[in-house]
Amino acid sequence: MKTLYLVAGARPNFMKIAPLVRALRAHCASLDFKIIHTGQHYDHDLNEVFFEELGIPAPDVSLGAGSGSHAQQTAKIMIGFEEACRTRRPDCVLVVGDVNSTLACSIVAKKLCIPVAHVEAGLRSGDMTMPEEINRIVTDAISDLFFVTEPSGVKNLLREGKLPTRIHHVGHVMVDNLLYQRDKLAVTDTSAFMSSGLKSRLGAYGAVTLHRPSNVDTRDALERVGATLRTVAQRIPLVFPLHPRTRGNLDKFGISLGNQVVLTGPLPYMDFLNLWKDAKFVLTDSGGLQEETTALGVPCVTVRENTERPITVEQGTNVVAGTDPENVGLEAFRILEGRGKPGQRPDLWDGKAAERVVAILARELA
Ligand code: UD1
Repeated sequence: MKTLYLVAGARPNFMKIAPLVRALRAHCASLDFKIIHTGQHYDHDLNEVFFEELGIPAPDVSLGAGSGSHAQQTAKIMIGFEEACRTRRPDCVLVVGDVNSTLACSIVAKKLCIPVAHVEAGLRSGDMTMPEEINRIVTDAISDLFFVTEPSGVKNLLREGKLPTRIHHVGHVMVDNLLYQRDKLAVTDTSAFMSSGLKSRLGAYGAVTLHRPSNVDTRDALERVGATLRTVAQRIPLVFPLHPRTRGNLDKFGISLGNQVVLTGPLPYMDFLNLWKDAKFVLTDSGGLQEETTALGVPCVTVRENTERPITVEQGTNVVAGTDPENVGLEAFRILEGRGKPGQRPDLWDGKAAERVVAILARELA
């Protein structure tokens, strides 16, 4: 039997691994899989809570890499993962997304001549100041199999010289997870959720997530974010679950967001879904949330100058507003006035992407 390593390291990986595990268990007797947790994210709020809620089995191997500079973190993951691959050599390593764990493990596998499959391949923002863009480009440069979420990904990979037979437009495993969790949420008692209390207290609200280094790591950028949120919050209260990076920098620079912005810690997946699915809009710099809002038809204003996920703008509810507070405010107010842009769910974002991935892997590894 062939063995597949599934690499998970940071919060946005877990949503993508969960449906792959379900599909592997349900449809693929010919593949054994092991979950390798790099330890890039380790706090209970960013880590265990997702394993529990999303139904991911406990990792088979935990590398415990932890935080650090990009070089430190990537190096620690590489050293740990190399040892794991040498201890028990897999037949294929599957990496998801664009975090440092994705980069580190794909390089290690490739240098050991183990085939690499990349789920969410081909996305490009064109912005080389984004660590994720470097991770995407390097991972795709050395991957053997490309699972793509949207047509732009296919186009980018072909432009970069990849063989068409290696590229598979399968849809989005993260949307599989979203639809699965949304159905579960519909039959869950949410009365103890933090989001339920906030929803009944606030009535109408916007939901915010901002944690990209370009928005939160310098005083100037974070002050611009502060000005943006205070502007928008004059018209509607905002709920902002803070990523540790953002919380740390708000404290460090002494920036206050005013009392119309309700701050919470990171929320579990279901609690956060319960919040944003009913928000008037979502203000975000997250890649995943641009897509999840498109999948459920919730208006999204992206506080960035670009997106690597153009389908969310071409077909979905996403507007890339830049980082100018006035412009972000205009887009948010347009939505509040009922003039937001309608959207549709992209092709193949149907809850079955993981099944397609697993069918292709079973064929390729046979
Ligand atoms: C990482 C990903 C980013 C993703 C984000 C989701 C990279 C380059 N970035 O960014 O693409 O959108 O995860 O959360 O891989 N920290 C904790 N507890 C933890 C983990 C981190 O407090 O469990 C704090 C530490 O101070 C750490 C900082 O957050 O230094 C940043 O963590 P890191 O994993 O380096 O990057 P993220 O900003 O989380």
